Amino acid sequence: MMTTQNQMMATTSRPRDIIQDFAKSFFHAHKSDLEKFYPGISLETLLREFDYLCSLNGQLGEDYHARMESFFKSLLLGIPLAYLSQKRFFYNVDLFVSPDVLIPRQETELLVEMALEKIALKVKQQESLTIADIGTGSGAILLATLKEASLRYPKLAIASFASDISSRALEITKKNFFHNQYTLSPQIVTSFLLGDRLRPFQDKKIFCDLILSNPPYIMNPDDLSGVHSQVKLFEPELALFLKSDEYWEWYRQLIKDAFALLNPTGTFLMEGHEKHLHTLQQISLEIGFAYASIQNDLTGRERFLILQKSN
Ligand SMILES: C[S@@+](CC[C@H](N)C(=O)[O-])C[C@H]1O[C@@H](n2cnc3c(N)ncnc32)[C@H](O)[C@@H]1O
Repeated sequence: MMTTQNQMMATTSRPRDIIQDFAKSFFHAHKSDLEKFYPGISLETLLREFDYLCSLNGQLGEDYHARMESFFKSLLLGIPLAYLSQKRFFYNVDLFVSPDVLIPRQETELLVEMALEKIALKVKQQESLTIADIGTGSGAILLATLKEASLRYPKLAIASFASDISSRALEITKKNFFHNQYTLSPQIVTSFLLGDRLRPFQDKKIFCDLILSNPPYIMNPDDLSGVHSQVKLFEPELALFLKSDEYWEWYRQLIKDAFALLNPTGTFLMEGHEKHLHTLQQISLEIGFAYASIQNDLTGRERFLILQKSN
């Protein structure tokens, strides 16, 4: 690998040419290995990500050479591109991501759409809203929802709460809110809460109109066979897995607390595992939700639970 690079350095002088040439030969030499981790990856994507990484602090630094080696070695280990470039675009927002948070998924964007539909109904009856995101991670769901709501309803007062059990994840959430604060209407106030599921809301007696959540939903070990090795290796365990023998009790508590902390016309929108949503729907009706329905994602998989406290 390095021989090719030395050859290139002998014939070209500008750093960007060296990088381009090196990336090209790297890409062709390792195409099939790269495809395993990054399906559909192209040379252009590779160059774009690397260029972004090296331009984080302005121009290519003198250490670009070491960075280039480390970047391409990381690719062969299968480290997700989003962790290498430390960024992910989600719905309408550029997010900073690190291995302390889940890389926001495209299917979750539908949860933002669903939240906006509910907000559209609620603003007809209310002048202010309280919205919570449980297990906020990078802050993707809440930030995207608030950013779009700011455009649609610039005068709407929203008290919003981003919560997570991981203090390291919550540091990333705060960073993302800080960098995007100028995109949110001044009528929006966001607080960050550390704790287990809805416990911080109980402690502070915070009642909500809309609760959003994409909680960990892979049963460990029952669902493990369906999880890509790259996800298992690099994304935070806390964000993904719940032990099989604690799974139902964990969700029963979450749904029960959501019911108790929702205002009378409140809504709970949750992403979940396609295999388990029917049981969770049943549990929600037992707990007292008047309405519980399941919505598919764009690939046709059952993905979301919509819970309404009253009709
Ligand atoms: C599937 S990730 C979702 C992250 C983000 N909301 C998204 O959609 O990209 C689940 C998140 O829930 C958090 N989490 C796990 N267990 C939790 C608990 N008991 N209480 C609150 N948050 C929890 C994890 O730290 C992680 O950030």
